[in-house]
Amino acid sequence: MSHPSNLSFDVLIIGSGAAGLSLALRLPSNVKTGLVAKRELEEGNTLYAQGGISAVLDARDSVDSHVQDTLDAGAGLCDEEIVRLVVEHGPDNIRWLFDEGVEFTRTPATGNSGYHLTREGGHSHRRVVHAADATGHAVESTLVRQLDSHPNVGVFEHHIAVDLVAAEHRDGRRVQRRCHGAYLLNIKTDEVVAVSARCVVLATGGASKVYLYTSNPDVATGDGIAMAWRAGCRVANMEFIQFHPTCLYHPAAKSFLISEAVRGEGGRLLLPDGTRFMERFDERAELAPRDIVARAIDHEMKRLGIDCVYLDISHKPADEIERLFPTIHHRCLELGFDMRKEPLPVVPAAHYTCGGVKTDKLARTDLNGLYAIGETAYTGLHGANRMASNSLLECLVFSEVALADILKELDRSDVPSHVLAPWDESRVTDSDEEVVVSHNWDELRRFMWDYVGIVRSNKRLERARRRVNLLRHEINEYYGNFRVSNDLLELRNLVDVADLIIKSAQRRRESRGLHYNIDFPDRDDNQASPTVLIPDNYTPRRPGD
Ligand code: FAD
Ligand code: SIN
Repeated sequence: MSHPSNLSFDVLIIGSGAAGLSLALRLPSNVKTGLVAKRELEEGNTLYAQGGISAVLDARDSVDSHVQDTLDAGAGLCDEEIVRLVVEHGPDNIRWLFDEGVEFTRTPATGNSGYHLTREGGHSHRRVVHAADATGHAVESTLVRQLDSHPNVGVFEHHIAVDLVAAEHRDGRRVQRRCHGAYLLNIKTDEVVAVSARCVVLATGGASKVYLYTSNPDVATGDGIAMAWRAGCRVANMEFIQFHPTCLYHPAAKSFLISEAVRGEGGRLLLPDGTRFMERFDERAELAPRDIVARAIDHEMKRLGIDCVYLDISHKPADEIERLFPTIHHRCLELGFDMRKEPLPVVPAAHYTCGGVKTDKLARTDLNGLYAIGETAYTGLHGANRMASNSLLECLVFSEVALADILKELDRSDVPSHVLAPWDESRVTDSDEEVVVSHNWDELRRFMWDYVGIVRSNKRLERARRRVNLLRHEINEYYGNFRVSNDLLELRNLVDVADLIIKSAQRRRESRGLHYNIDFPDRDDNQASPTVLIPDNYTPRRPGD
């Protein structure tokens, strides 16, 4: 893995999860590439992925069935063309990972020749390939290792992108806007550098840290969505935040995920008195799509005034539990629970951002030269609710899709150039009130949890809107006066993202998929289209460009 020698690249990839890494590794060796991560390269949602990656790998399964399950889970809002594209490219992308060296769990019954396929909510077949219950760790660590043989990729760890640099260019009578690079803050030295690139790719992951309780690591602050919005890109479907039904309920566990694959392998959800309840909500019971299961748990917790429900797989053989769920079993033992013998206390927590930066089917955003891939993008795959294990698949397929268009873009000779101005700190000072940032951060995450969570209402959304307006005002003032820091940048992005979530939720006057509003409890088929928010500085791309 090489380090950057200068600050100009053919391609600048911001984010080193499954989406960013797979693109970096796929770019040809003559393409000078910069790869940026806020922390160590490995840190991000990908590292923590448990259940696996969905793909049609079993002869009894079919593309049509995977497509149909995804459309059903997406509650009428998926883009069918995109769903089919992603599903059709699934098997080849699993083979690519395998060729890069990712070791997936195999089925002993087939003499270790075939992958073991597990099952998760919404899937009508076993189609989730996995590395025990630590699939993300296997994928991320293997791909990071592969960077060693890609000297064209310069790595910026501990650099947080502050903002994108966009400029207007006159093309005849039309004005076009193009992305030319980004400003990066070196978190270790506090220095801000300007990095120019012919193509910039946002692979910055999701925004679930906007909620008080989340399965996501600290880096998931929606930076790419906020930066793209400020730079003039449309953002879609932000009301559809997925709450994972089963995170461990324990004060020290920081919402540790208990994989849906536990339910896929027979785990049952129980009330404190030991009775099952999911059949009352959906005939697929524990394997209904996530929106249904999370809402059912929330409903039962409120109805009975209980702090959690329970997930029980102790009826399965202990050796099977240890073989399929070694990470979860180990972590639970550390916290005093033996899943081989007893039910685990679980609660829902924010898990996945279904919306994001609006892209077309070539992974392009509204700014020329700017792409978005992975959780930060809205491609149309997930609709109103993502089906389990379709996310890593989307990261891989859209890195392949972006690659094809980026190579064409790099071949063009008519791309306007722009010299990036150095970062200007002449009007700011060091902050003497950093406590404001941490207080605002806590306040934001708490009211988003209380007012914009699993169950919403007009009144709660309005309350959240008033609070977010106040916070945005305070934070923008703070940003204008003080030197930037990692915490300030993340808070500024979280507030922008919260605002986008609230606005989108207020715009949707029905309940569908992950968005449930008690004032509009029914689905309304006249509203079966994505919620697209348009920033003031939006300029449509030239047709055909
Ligand atoms: P990430 O992997 O989150 O990477 C984001 C990258 O962007 C990081 O490198 C980060 O440092 C960088 N970054 C962010 N902002 C900036 C900035 N401003 N400047 C510089 N760098 C920045 N999905 C599945 O399909 N199957 C599963 O089994 C599964 N299990 C999951 C379990 C857990 C606990 C979680 C949290 C998620 C799970 N998901 C799963 C969802 C899936 O892991 C993510 O959607 C996917 O990994 C996102 O990959 P990504 O490359 O888009 O982003
Ligand atoms: C899990 O293992 O339950 C997470 C799967 C996902 O989010 O796709």
